[in-house]
Amino acid sequence: MEVAVIGAGNVGGALAGSISRAGHTVTITSPSGRRAEEVGRETGAKVISSNREAVEGADAVVLAVPTHAVDQFVGEVGDALDGKIVIDVTNRMNPQEPPSTIDGTSNAERIQVAVPGARVIKAFNTAFAVRQADPVVDGTPIDGLVAGDDEAAKREVLDLVEGIGFRPIDAGSLGMARALEAMATLIISLNMANNWSWQNGWKLVGPLGSAAPGR
Ligand SMILES: NC(=O)c1ccc[n+]([C@@H]2O[C@H](COP(=O)([O-])OP(=O)(O)OC[C@H]3O[C@@H](n4cnc5c(N)ncnc54)[C@H](OP(=O)(O)O)[C@@H]3O)[C@@H](O)[C@H]2O)c1
Repeated sequence: MEVAVIGAGNVGGALAGSISRAGHTVTITSPSGRRAEEVGRETGAKVISSNREAVEGADAVVLAVPTHAVDQFVGEVGDALDGKIVIDVTNRMNPQEPPSTIDGTSNAERIQVAVPGARVIKAFNTAFAVRQADPVVDGTPIDGLVAGDDEAAKREVLDLVEGIGFRPIDAGSLGMARALEAMATLIISLNMANNWSWQNGWKLVGPLGSAAPGR
């Protein structure tokens, strides 16, 4: 798969590396270009200066920008996202009042409304960047929770998530992005409150039954 990673920060760098290692072709962008160049050197991802050009050449687009940049990105790229799988990794956080972002909406659904022709999937947002780079802890893969309305796109993202090393889990329709984003709010709050290492990610424990998870 040709994957465009938009944003070259903690998440963009981590996923550019793990997606490349999983055998996909990755391009990466960032407005300054500086971090994208660094990620390109470290991961072999191809650096492209234009978000639109990166999107046009991709089958799937990983959105790894701060929430405040989402509208700008969607406005800039717009209909070039039609038909593309858009993997939304973004989270919202209000450090002063964390519950304020748990408001019955999600970034993923807002993107889907703004670009109805895109195949928006929520994924990777419940694990910190360190775990997106390497989702296996003490030999155990953490969970890659994937939500979306386009079943074919969701299957492709579940395969991608599994290829990186997560245990893939189908989390349901795109509306479940509200739950996944709330899970991110909780894990961020916990790391802040307890001075944890920002290296964790969600995992269900206990048997899931005989069916392969996520299928
Ligand atoms: N950090 C985590 O562990 C983690 C885990 C799960 C989800 N998330 C979510 O993932 C997103 C990215 O987090 P992060 O920690 O990677 O942030 P970050 O380190 O601040 O990196 C953000 C990147 O986005 C780029 N960017 C900003 N506006 C852009 C635009 N319009 N087009 C293209 N690139 C743009 C920035 O470019 P410059 O380099 O030029 O500034 C930067 O490279 C956030 O929504 C966050 O909530 C983060």
